[in-house]
Amino acid sequence: MKRSLLFLLLLIPFLFALFELFILENVKDPIKYIYTISGISSTVILFFTILISLIKKHFNILKYRRMIGLYGFFYALIHFLNFTVLDAELNIDFIFKETLDKPFIYLGMGAFLILIFMAITSTNRLFKIYQPYHKLIYLSLILITIHFIMAQKSLTIMQLFYIAIIILIGYLKLLQQIIRKNRVH
Ligand code: HEM
Repeated sequence: MKRSLLFLLLLIPFLFALFELFILENVKDPIKYIYTISGISSTVILFFTILISLIKKHFNILKYRRMIGLYGFFYALIHFLNFTVLDAELNIDFIFKETLDKPFIYLGMGAFLILIFMAITSTNRLFKIYQPYHKLIYLSLILITIHFIMAQKSLTIMQLFYIAIIILIGYLKLLQQIIRKNRVH
């Protein structure tokens, strides 16, 4: 697959959101809408990054993993800016209070801090040094999954479907680790 094609594919949720928000102007609650589109896009993309090594025998896009991961970070950044700039209107007291008071917000913040660290250390030079710490993606994904579930007032079929996929990917990754450990060299 071509890098430019993948680049455009990953940009679709962003372009789609701009189109709905500014051209069609058909969004009733833009803040809620941005939370959903950025949160779901980031979650799906980040889970896809851990899936890449599972499917590499059939579909090898390992060399694009950094770009895909950075896209996951990009959507998480939009989600974070939606909270701090649009929702909290840059009220620092409110941001701190919400973050410390609401478990689902501090879990999201924890996940986001890990993503910032990974994005910063994703350059060739820093990745060589910090690669072992990139396993923190698993912790971030666990926090994201709990955050996602806690953010729901009620779970729809679609959301249950996402959660089932997330659990399946987690299970397959665990299986992959166990098989790797038990392999005779
Ligand atoms: C930076 C810290 C974060 C804050 C302050 C935050 C805040 C929020 C809030 C307030 C909601 C609820 C929106 C609503 O329905 O009213 C939400 C939902 C959600 N967040 Fe976060 N979040 C953070 C980090 C993350 C990260 C890192 C991810 C994924 C990578 C994520 C994924 C989601 C998802 C999937 C939803 C559910 C969207 C929906 O079903 O509508 N969040 N977040």
